[in-house]
Amino acid sequence: MQQQLTHTERRQAKPAEHVHIHRLTVGDLEQVRNHFLRLSSTSRRLRFGRPVSNEFLERYAEALFDAVSIVYGAEIDGVIRGVTEMRGDTTSWSRFAEAAISVEDEFQDRGIGGALLKRLVQAAQNRGVAQLYMICLRENHKMKHLAQKNEAILDYCVDEVEGRITDLHPSFASLFSEWFDEASDYVTSLMTPARK
Ligand SMILES: CC(C)(COP(=O)(O)OP(=O)(O)OC[C@H]1O[C@@H](n2cnc3c(N)ncnc32)[C@H](O)[C@@H]1OP(=O)(O)O)[C@@H](O)C(=O)NCCC(=O)NCCS
Repeated sequence: MQQQLTHTERRQAKPAEHVHIHRLTVGDLEQVRNHFLRLSSTSRRLRFGRPVSNEFLERYAEALFDAVSIVYGAEIDGVIRGVTEMRGDTTSWSRFAEAAISVEDEFQDRGIGGALLKRLVQAAQNRGVAQLYMICLRENHKMKHLAQKNEAILDYCVDEVEGRITDLHPSFASLFSEWFDEASDYVTSLMTPARK
């Protein structure tokens, strides 16, 4: 029987430098679809607030890049294992945007979700999104913890919790950091063979 790893052991199992976080485009659609399909039923429910079928996930992935959205992926050995997205108004960035995030079960508890959310918050900050909100089930302690780590205010409803990160303003550091990350991603993409 496979031994259950503790939280600390899972964190140490794969060093953070093996994870490449970068912006995803419609060219990554198949990878994103496959990532969603690999989520367990528990993670699917936590991500979408209810059980969802493979057909739902396929449709969701296909619509993802049609919306005005920014999508980042966490790539490990050429495979996208985590995805975070931000959706704003359908025509322009508005004062409100919604964030969502998923990491495949066997890659959770290694800091990937936290790193993805940090990158998304920076993107929101740089686009003048005044309020980034995320909705999760009440029982989703990890997500609530990550939201609070990013200074979100949590509002509890019956089954759900809404986390709101407010007071987001671009700074020289946040703009430079996003520019640097995107430039590095571009250079990396030129030097890396096509992803699986
Ligand atoms: C929520 C999710 C994205 C987190 O991703 P992850 O890669 O596991 O997250 P990380 O490893 O970066 O961070 C997890 C944090 O939660 C903390 N945590 C773990 N279990 C916890 C618990 N029971 N209670 C409180 N905090 C907990 C960890 O200590 C860690 O915090 P730290 O970085 O301060 O130590 C991932 O679990 C997931 O995809 N879940 C299914 C989908 C989902 O719930 N999406 C959110 C709704 S949109």
